[in-house]
Amino acid sequence: MLQKRLAVQQLMINKTKIKGTGFENLSALHSVLRVGLKVMKLEERGLNNVLDCKLVERDLSLPNLDPFWQGKKILHLSDTHLDGIPGLLEVIVNAVQNLSYDLCVITGDFRFGKGAFHPASMAPTLEMLDAINAPLGFYGVLGNHDFIEQVDYLEENGMRVLLNESADLGHNLWLAGVDDPHLYECDDIPAAAHGIPETASKVLLVHSPERVREAQKVGFHAYLCGHTHGGQISLPVLGRPFSNARCKRKFAFGEFDYKEMQGYTHNGTGASSVAARFGCPSEIVLHTLKRK
Ligand SMILES: [Fe+2]
Repeated sequence: MLQKRLAVQQLMINKTKIKGTGFENLSALHSVLRVGLKVMKLEERGLNNVLDCKLVERDLSLPNLDPFWQGKKILHLSDTHLDGIPGLLEVIVNAVQNLSYDLCVITGDFRFGKGAFHPASMAPTLEMLDAINAPLGFYGVLGNHDFIEQVDYLEENGMRVLLNESADLGHNLWLAGVDDPHLYECDDIPAAAHGIPETASKVLLVHSPERVREAQKVGFHAYLCGHTHGGQISLPVLGRPFSNARCKRKFAFGEFDYKEMQGYTHNGTGASSVAARFGCPSEIVLHTLKRK
């Protein structure tokens, strides 16, 4: 799997178009978007929309939940893309310092660019990690913008990155995570589920909502992801033209259910391609655990 990921990373460094990834890797389109926003004088408004981050509080109900976890809170960030969004680090640090939570998960896309990895791009992310204090665990997965080289930086700064593996959080709750299924296609859900007791409460972290069926099939009770940015741009009448995910739209935005499994596709805390949003607020999510 590592060799496969490294091969795709090389394609990204070489700016080779990767089949099946749609328009999102077309750098020319990103330039057109940037220039368009500038010409229409919408740059500032779009950036302010990213920085106007909403707090979403919701329940996450899990079967077999031990009383220890009842009412505990998971802080969920996603798609922070911090090195490309001026001012977002301060917004996140301010917000999390005023929140009470027990666990933290980040569902990938830490950096803005997709080309060669430069350690300097991690600086704002590491400052953000420093501001997060999750006494019962801090976990993350990689997204389609992330390179494997980032893992050491993240782990040295308090986050455990789950690469097709799981963590026993204690009191019958297990958290698993897979590598990115969208661009790298290096996810292995059966490997991530391996060794988790049948009677445990099981939560899966994935970057995108593109593996809902596979996750339900192996018995996960909850699926937390991001990637779609809630569309990032929503147009009057037309709604959200893009989800950038190869799955049903009902899985691509916000809450969903699939058979006995429930899921949440995060709107994203940052933005990518352009540092702007319209009609799709950025968010910070607090999931409160409840027994189903
Ligand atoms: Fe993203």
